[in-house]
Amino acid sequence: MQKNTISKYRPFPAIDLPDRQWPGRVIEKAPTWCSVDLRDGNQALAIPMNIEEKLELFQTLVRIGFKEIEVGFPSASDTEFAFTRHLIENDLIPPDVTIQALVQAREHLIHRTFEAIQGARQAIVHLYNSINPLQRRVTFGLSRSQIKEIAVKGTQIVKELVPTVGETIVKYEYSPESFSDTELEFSLEVCEAVMDVWEPTEEKPIILNLPATVELATPNVHADQIEWFGRNMKERSKALISLHTHNDRGCGVAATELSLMAGAQRVEGTLFGNGERTGNLDIVTVALNLYTQGIDPGLDFSDLNALRRTYERITSMPVHERHPYAGDLVFTAFSGSHQDAIKKGMDQMDASSDSGAIWQVPYLPIDPEDIGRTYKAIIRINSQSGKGGMAYIMEREFGLELPKSMHPEFSAVINKIADAGSKELQPNEIKEAFHREYLDLNQPLSLNAYKILTAPDDHRHITFSAEIIFQGEKRQIEGQGNGPIAALVDGLDQVGLKDFHLTDFRQHAISTGSSAEAVAYIQIQDTGNDASTWGASIDSNIELAGLKALVSAFNRARAKKEAKADKSIAKNKVVAPGVSQ
Ligand code: KIV
Ligand code: ZN
Repeated sequence: MQKNTISKYRPFPAIDLPDRQWPGRVIEKAPTWCSVDLRDGNQALAIPMNIEEKLELFQTLVRIGFKEIEVGFPSASDTEFAFTRHLIENDLIPPDVTIQALVQAREHLIHRTFEAIQGARQAIVHLYNSINPLQRRVTFGLSRSQIKEIAVKGTQIVKELVPTVGETIVKYEYSPESFSDTELEFSLEVCEAVMDVWEPTEEKPIILNLPATVELATPNVHADQIEWFGRNMKERSKALISLHTHNDRGCGVAATELSLMAGAQRVEGTLFGNGERTGNLDIVTVALNLYTQGIDPGLDFSDLNALRRTYERITSMPVHERHPYAGDLVFTAFSGSHQDAIKKGMDQMDASSDSGAIWQVPYLPIDPEDIGRTYKAIIRINSQSGKGGMAYIMEREFGLELPKSMHPEFSAVINKIADAGSKELQPNEIKEAFHREYLDLNQPLSLNAYKILTAPDDHRHITFSAEIIFQGEKRQIEGQGNGPIAALVDGLDQVGLKDFHLTDFRQHAISTGSSAEAVAYIQIQDTGNDASTWGASIDSNIELAGLKALVSAFNRARAKKEAKADKSIAKNKVVAPGVSQ
């Protein structure tokens, strides 16, 4: 790359349109969509589609709701020709769908194109020639008037051939290829010359497709070009202005949206933006962008996953993980604060009884369900995740509502695992970590057989007797309390094992799965160092769940203390005598 003075490139000149109107406009309805997947998209594939693949994609496009479909370039190859014939001869084109056939402005190719569309109910013949200064000079060595003549001549031939296809209603589209890189007055001059030959009417308008064959400027420049063109042309009402924005600067979608604000009525593009080089306009994104503004796009993407699978199989090209709406990761939040916000937003939407409620979930501009995607994968856990994400998974996937003050403790466990493995944890791994960390811990303390006696005259007075094993040694304990847990705590106190206070206790039935189980959470605080520790247990016997949760908290607190002691011994060992720390 050049440094400092970049002499190799120059800025794209601004369009002289000081009273531009488009920045103040909003898009209020969907344009006419034309899919060019089977032509522009197909031309960009390393291995072009065969007839079966083209047919499957054609039928997919019809199902989505496209009413105009460029089926190919019939004069370019036998396959392209045969496919067009196959559609027509087998009556595979629904009555409300118009096929479109691209052709260069060359006589024999135009003739072949008319042979291809023979018998169709209606067809758009789409003629193009390059008109920009670079191609005029470098590729063709032709003057402006010679280039204009190609367009005019081509249009005359198309017009002459219309009667040869009898019943077929022929519409006409002209593309001044590389419009985006052409002097605006010259584009207009060519298009008006074409209109003079075609003689469109308001009822039968011509389609003027103004392609950004190569995207060379910021999207506002394209919008300026479109507005300038529409305002300066003679018979605006006799033309439909169509967009065809390639994506060389990554702004194809933006260029289309701004140019719709600038007055364009029709949009050509492809599914997921397949097309030459960096691709064509991604119609899925533009359509769903409209949808999220409350505008019916007239295209049905309610099973985007299936559409994506079809596209990937047929084109052998993957949709990127971060592709708008369709990518694997676009409904996934890794950051804790995003996860918290999403959970709150989702809960609020769930709680709303209004079926027409406006979608308002932070970080999610669209309800994934609308496009056949699920909430399930929204929260995934890695070492960057916060407490909210872990709590969300535990509650949503496993029905375990961890107490809020337990979140930091278990979150630290999860982050450590994710960090050590440098990976993202799946819900099952989180559940396994919970089991390992809290459930069925029996060292140094375990509870064997136990008996609970309730005083006949006072149900709140309980005597708890049990056999426990502490550090491998069996012992009998007996304690009193106003409930089984308090009585177990008292029993431990009697044998000198109570070095804690009970600070929190929760339990609830587990709301997912078929088994009727309960979970109990107990928090204790060390009387020596005030450290708090949670314990938990799951059991079909709710009483036992509580008792085992206390044992879990006890064992975890002991393990913590031991680890701390080991650490300080190790620290003392590495410091040589006489060396101050
Ligand atoms: O990108 C382009 O200019 C084209 C034309 C043939 C319309 O694909
Ligand atoms: Zn193109």
